[in-house]
Amino acid sequence: MSQKTLEGKVGLVFGVANKRSIAWGIAKAWADAGARLIFNYQGERLKENVEELAATFGSETPVAACDVTRDEDIGKFFEFVREKTGRVDLLLHSVAFAPKEALEGNFLDTSREAFRIAHDISAYSLVAVSRAAVPLMNAGGSIVTMSYYGAAKVVPHYNVMGVAKAALEASVRYLAYDLGPKKIRVNAISAGPVNTLAARGISGFSAMLSHYEAHAPLKRNITLEELGATGVFLASDGAAGITGQILYADSGYSVMGM
Ligand SMILES: NC(=O)c1ccc[n+]([C@@H]2O[C@H](COP(=O)([O-])OP(=O)(O)OC[C@H]3O[C@@H](n4cnc5c(N)ncnc54)[C@H](O)[C@@H]3O)[C@@H](O)[C@H]2O)c1
Repeated sequence: MSQKTLEGKVGLVFGVANKRSIAWGIAKAWADAGARLIFNYQGERLKENVEELAATFGSETPVAACDVTRDEDIGKFFEFVREKTGRVDLLLHSVAFAPKEALEGNFLDTSREAFRIAHDISAYSLVAVSRAAVPLMNAGGSIVTMSYYGAAKVVPHYNVMGVAKAALEASVRYLAYDLGPKKIRVNAISAGPVNTLAARGISGFSAMLSHYEAHAPLKRNITLEELGATGVFLASDGAAGITGQILYADSGYSVMGM
């Protein structure tokens, strides 16, 4: 029998809220490819959900709290990881948030506080969790985060989240430079719209789904399974020469000029 692509790897998964989460799609694919996983959950509200989902990989699958806005949570989460395993090979960062009022109306009206929160949770957290993971990634590895086209082009209502995604994408490049000598690769998947909890916070989100269906070269939206496969690719040796990149998994939408 051929060896699975991620056999023997340990992966940390940040960002499962429920079974529609992109993090869950990628986690399933990583597990199918042979990786052992450790999950975070944001807070008590999501604990049961994440524990239940993680248990589908065996009741022993480690799960621990980590609100990425809190340095003490990040510290405790990585202590927990260290107790469970001596190594980390993969890190999925699939976390974002902006206050709802900032995702409707005009970007011009973004408050200082909404700007701060969006950047803290959606961009800085990649830097914070990567820094905590690196001491455990002694054999090199792959860090993957999730972005969206609103980082590069104006998407009405995406507003401050687009600006935070631009910071996230620039962070991917700077982290790739810092971590390259340690054989740790850092990349983002820029996904087309997927109907998740976070996405439903964006005003006009269902119109976005139909717009992609009508205008993307593939004439459809992407699936969680496809994002999972892209996540496995970036985590695997198949992507050994790829770092600092933003890889579009969007049915080709972003190549269109009209
Ligand atoms: N759904 C889409 O259309 C789409 C498209 C492109 C990119 N993305 C990105 O994919 C990623 C995952 O989002 P999703 O669509 O799967 O939605 P989701 O709601 O399922 O996941 C978002 C996750 O972020 C977590 N989170 C928010 N604030 C947090 C905090 N302070 N600490 C820890 N965790 C926190 C939530 O708990 C949740 O698990 C996000 O970065 C999102 O911007 C989504």
